[in-house]
Amino acid sequence: MTATRRLVIVGGGHMGLAIIRGLLGGPAGPELVVVERSAARRELLAELDGLTVVAHLDLADGDFVVLAVPPQVFAEFADAERHRFTPGTPVLSVMAGLTAETIATALGTTQVVRSIPNTPSEVFQGMSVYHAGPQVSAETTAQAEALLGVIGRVLRVDREELVDDATAICGGGPAFVSYIVDAFCQFAAARGFGEAAGREMAVQVFGGTATLIAESGKPPMQLCHEVMTPNGTTERGIAAFDAAGLKGSILTALTAAAQRSRELARPHGPGCAVG
Ligand SMILES: NC(=O)c1ccc[n+]([C@@H]2O[C@H](COP(=O)([O-])OP(=O)(O)OC[C@H]3O[C@@H](n4cnc5c(N)ncnc54)[C@H](OP(=O)(O)O)[C@@H]3O)[C@@H](O)[C@H]2O)c1
Repeated sequence: MTATRRLVIVGGGHMGLAIIRGLLGGPAGPELVVVERSAARRELLAELDGLTVVAHLDLADGDFVVLAVPPQVFAEFADAERHRFTPGTPVLSVMAGLTAETIATALGTTQVVRSIPNTPSEVFQGMSVYHAGPQVSAETTAQAEALLGVIGRVLRVDREELVDDATAICGGGPAFVSYIVDAFCQFAAARGFGEAAGREMAVQVFGGTATLIAESGKPPMQLCHEVMTPNGTTERGIAAFDAAGLKGSILTALTAAAQRSRELARPHGPGCAVG
């Protein structure tokens, strides 16, 4: 990333801030600038050391742009800011749904890498998936991968449509997991554990299981069966999951999220992301 003059992050919302926090906590890099139109948000961002906060975009040679505005406002952003981009301006999009081609055409740069990171980037536990087409230079691809690598793991995919599926798995994943962790916390609270104790148990179970799956290399369902003593307590719980169709519900939710990502790419589809 040494060739980069500044990293300009457009949009300092939840995802933009997670990336900023991750980058600020990582090794020293180029100057970090955030462009944020909300005054209240700028005030919050201004509390972070090492970050330049501005209200309006201004680009110069050598700047690397990270687009972290909602896909629904991208068309308006592109109309207003297109003149600041050159055909070689390197751009990393983290916007759900919008294709690299849509972004490239709207901004007039060929150098668009499309990615989907997630909010655990804030604590260096991100999982980002990206696609760089053949028109993107090796340098821009390397810059994008290095940036995402500072905030977690990175996976490159050779078909852009896989970024839509990764949007469900990785982008939305932290919300889906938090939703389930909340159910564990609710149960603990209902049984009389204090809030902190319930949270500690739930978080340690999810974190510990994720580490066990990663380090053992065993298939998740093998680890599931290793806990299920015949006619025991866990078997009863899994039977309740199966009776409620929980796995089917999760697959339905992931399919719906990936479908929504594809909808956001359509100029006149639901949400009218572009045009
Ligand atoms: N949240 C996630 O976990 C996640 C994960 C992966 C990818 N993403 C992607 O990341 C992007 C941002 O999501 P988010 O959850 O961070 O949304 P968010 O919390 O709503 O943040 C977006 C921020 O961008 C600002 N903004 C809008 N237009 C702008 C402009 N023209 N110039 C400068 N700032 C502008 C918004 O200000 P106003 O409030 O004033 O509009 C808001 O503060 C989306 O494209 C989303 O698909 C999010």
